Amino acid sequence: MLSEEQIARRARELGAQITHDYADRALALVCVLKGSFVFAADLARAIELPLRVEFLGVRSYGAGTETSGVVQITQDLSHPIEHQHVLLVEDIIDTGLTVAYLMDLFRTRGPATVRVCALLHKPSRARAQVPIDYLGFTIEDRFVVGYGLDVGGLYRNLPYIGVIEGS
Ligand code: IMP
Ligand code: MG
Repeated sequence: MLSEEQIARRARELGAQITHDYADRALALVCVLKGSFVFAADLARAIELPLRVEFLGVRSYGAGTETSGVVQITQDLSHPIEHQHVLLVEDIIDTGLTVAYLMDLFRTRGPATVRVCALLHKPSRARAQVPIDYLGFTIEDRFVVGYGLDVGGLYRNLPYIGVIEGS
């Protein structure tokens, strides 16, 4: 669906936009594990700001290709985000339930600002309205893998985004 080159170009564009928007302010990039680890690594290197990287583990899927709708934190942040400018980095926003849950959780911790950067968005499946401040690509409702995204834990290492046939 999306080639290595297309993704790399878009990640650099988003990094430049973020660098411009935050205008020298320090940023805490929160990588939502596991799916966002590849995108966050590329995005971080395209941002020219004083930058910290934090990791947050969540799970909302079982082994299949449908969200359970229940978001579990599998690994919490290791540092406080109070008074910080937080940028939540997501691989894909599908129903929006994960990001909606995380925004609510983060607001209780007193950050200066919270924004969202997602590589992919499937608007047709939205169940919760979430603001996406920075978006890589809008895609149709197919189940995609690669560049960090998995099905049943596999295919995260593909350098491109591919479609699971029949999805
Ligand atoms: P949401 O809570 O429904 O927005 O789902 C967000 C999470 O579901 C993402 O962070 C992914 O881990 C996973 N997800 C949603 N759609 C896909 C897909 O097409 N391929 C792989 N993972 C997906
Ligand atoms: Mg996943």
